[in-house]
Amino acid sequence: MTPQNPVTEYTASLPFDRRLYRQDIACSIAHARMLARQGIITEKEAEAIIMGLVAIREEIEQGTFPFRPELEDIHMAIEARLTERLGAVAGKLHTGRSRNDLVATDMRLYIKEAVAQTVAGLHHLQATLLEVAQAHADVVIPGYTHLQRAQPVLLAHHLLAYFEMLHRDCARFRHAGAEADVLPLGSGALAGVPYPIDREFLAQELGFSRVSDNSLDAVSDRDFLLSFLAAAATCMMHLSRLAEELVLWSSAEFGFITLGEGYTSGSSIMPHKRNPDVAELARGKTGRVYGHLLGLLTVMKGLPLAYNRDMQEDKEGTFDTVDSLQATLGVFPGMLRSLQVNRERTSQAAADSLLLATDVADYLVGKGLPFRQAHQVVAQVVRYAVERGKGLGELSLEEYRRFSPLFAPDVSTLTLDSALAARRVKGGTAPRRVREALAEAQKRLEVCPGS
Ligand code: ARG
Repeated sequence: MTPQNPVTEYTASLPFDRRLYRQDIACSIAHARMLARQGIITEKEAEAIIMGLVAIREEIEQGTFPFRPELEDIHMAIEARLTERLGAVAGKLHTGRSRNDLVATDMRLYIKEAVAQTVAGLHHLQATLLEVAQAHADVVIPGYTHLQRAQPVLLAHHLLAYFEMLHRDCARFRHAGAEADVLPLGSGALAGVPYPIDREFLAQELGFSRVSDNSLDAVSDRDFLLSFLAAAATCMMHLSRLAEELVLWSSAEFGFITLGEGYTSGSSIMPHKRNPDVAELARGKTGRVYGHLLGLLTVMKGLPLAYNRDMQEDKEGTFDTVDSLQATLGVFPGMLRSLQVNRERTSQAAADSLLLATDVADYLVGKGLPFRQAHQVVAQVVRYAVERGKGLGELSLEEYRRFSPLFAPDVSTLTLDSALAARRVKGGTAPRRVREALAEAQKRLEVCPGS
């Protein structure tokens, strides 16, 4: 093998953009068809070119395509192979287009597919969250703020919070998909092309909703990638939060859940440990996805119009983002299904009477005390109880009344169940509300998959 020229190697994108071969060939087939319809090439020439392209696609899929490292990118590699097969007529394919509008079109097609796959993955994960929530409809856990026990919530309510995040993620990905749904082909290198091409026909053939309005913008716009990367970064942030809760909850300190064996690994030296590697890696992969967003923003910053070679750097980060995201969405449903809730530990944690402190304050409000004063009174009650190692439910009425004469025998009706049921405001954790929310979420999934 001849040693590679370091400059050729430096400037090549073939090692990674070969991934765009399907999109590139689809663009070329549509383009050849259009050129023939417009009488720019003959029907026979178009037919030969299209058959050649189909054969090349097969070669690539079967692994027999000769990827020659000296060729710069997938567009050149395909065209060179077409020339080997057809001779000079292959050169007619590049009439009325440029690699600049071609690569922009390839990437848009790629993102549209990635959006469809991502939305399907999100939909599956949302359905799994609902399934796990339904299966544990009666489990109560402490809700936290500042990671301090705050008020009791249903586990299902907690999981539904993630359903909402993923719902917004779907909308963000769809938005990126809509942005990508504009055809650049026909913009040429930067100024348009001097042939009577039919861009509407190209758009139709390739499944784009419309054609771009400005050729300079069309070849140099990567906003749709930035929107996708931003949606991916936000989505991974959500998944990393869920991952973190699984890590925390499966620790001995919380002990709320046990993750399935397939989603943890043993320690090589500490025989008692099961490490939540899958959740940790989901949390960890969030870093590279953020990085790719910032990477592309930086690549695009300050670029003069129109195409600049810097833009070739849009690909690896995008591909890695899609891979990291798909892989993470791929493992989450199984991991969630594998979790077992340790009901003894959740009940014990939820039985912490201090979780009812706010309800005691609300009780005093019910007796006419302004909330701020009620808060102060209950802070004193709590201090008193904690000092004596007692729960709020273990204090006698007499003890309560040392802090306020408004306390009456009905203070004993404050329980975990009453605290939950009281939060029946729309969006609250009352069991009745959560049942409604679960049904509503199920409907949302059915009406509009992935939302
Ligand atoms: N390999 C290039 C890229 O990925 C394709 C466009 C090249 N255009 C050019 N004028 N060199 O961006």
